[in-house]
Amino acid sequence: MQGKFIAVEGIDGSGTTTFINNVKIILEKEGYRVHVTCEPSSHPAGKYIRERLQDHKSDNTIFALLFAADRLIHYREEIVPALNNGFIVISDRYKISSFAYQGVTEDLQWVKLLNSKAPDPDLTLFIDVDPQEGDRRITKRGATRDVLENLSFQGKVHQLYLNLVKSFPEVITLDGNAEPDILANQGYNYIKPLIEEMI
Ligand code: TYD
Repeated sequence: MQGKFIAVEGIDGSGTTTFINNVKIILEKEGYRVHVTCEPSSHPAGKYIRERLQDHKSDNTIFALLFAADRLIHYREEIVPALNNGFIVISDRYKISSFAYQGVTEDLQWVKLLNSKAPDPDLTLFIDVDPQEGDRRITKRGATRDVLENLSFQGKVHQLYLNLVKSFPEVITLDGNAEPDILANQGYNYIKPLIEEMI
């Protein structure tokens, strides 16, 4: 049985990682096998991107190219094998992250073209929080901020996410201000119809 591919999107501080961990717990209780992954990926290309996010050498043009390459490696070498083994794959970020983040400065059509070899997921969930709330959560987390984690940039990313969500009817928006367990259950309710035939 082929698995299903779900992407989770949102600005920095929107809580995608917590959301995914909570959804994974629900799915596993229901008997499903879940493979959680993320972008930047854990492959050398993704590690290289994480290094570049911490220094201030890259601009968004370079990031657009690096993220697109990392994504195709991630898709072909990690996501596809897991799907072929019947896992539900949940990726913390995928293509729409590039459209929303790199689309702030780069031509969106060019970013879309760069990513056109990476197939669309079966479902994308967008966790919506406003940029001020995201910023508060980043501060609370206490880790060093990467080059993209500033309020002014995140405000532009958020606006682009809202525009993109309107243009992709297959993207579902969830309220990221909801209590974590309520949010996870809402996510699960969208995932359920997709996976019902899987066990
Ligand atoms: P993030 O999910 O925040 O990783 P972590 O939680 O481990 O820090 O991703 C790192 C940053 O990369 C984040 O600011 C979003 C950004 N990003 C892009 O700009 N474009 C992309 O295509 C992806 C996948 C991420």
